[in-house]
Amino acid sequence: MPVFALKVNGRACTVDAADKTPLLDVLRDDLQLRGSRFGCGEGGCGACAVLVDGVSQTACNLPLWAAAGPEITTVEGLDAALHAAFVAEQAAQCAYCSSGMQVAAAALLMRTPRPTAAEVESALDGHLCRCGAHPRIVRAVLRAAAQSA
Ligand code: FES
Ligand code: FES
Repeated sequence: MPVFALKVNGRACTVDAADKTPLLDVLRDDLQLRGSRFGCGEGGCGACAVLVDGVSQTACNLPLWAAAGPEITTVEGLDAALHAAFVAEQAAQCAYCSSGMQVAAAALLMRTPRPTAAEVESALDGHLCRCGAHPRIVRAVLRAAAQSA
């Protein structure tokens, strides 16, 4: 199998896997980064989101060949302040959606450091939360934005 060179959370690594292997499988199984979650497996829930050169993308449907080259950031590589804001607002129940939510929030805050609630809701629109924690999640993102100002 081909060997792919990845940049994940600031570290270079190589992965020996088929070129169509989903990045999510590589992160969880090869690199032991288990923060990104498997939900729907087809790009519809956001649980597996990672940053690809600063843009939030779902890793379950991102083939390994496309992930080799750009800077990949998983929830483990995010600023701790965002995670702390989620904890402070108790912005999760089961927390299955939380890593994807935090990745999408990080992407938003990079391009819009002081978002409105409507902008946060829009940025998280593709992320499902079966526990109904969305209002708390939005508050957590606004808290993180306020604290970084
Ligand atoms: S598991 Fe990737 S979008 Fe649902
Ligand atoms: S907190 Fe359970 S899915 Fe969002």
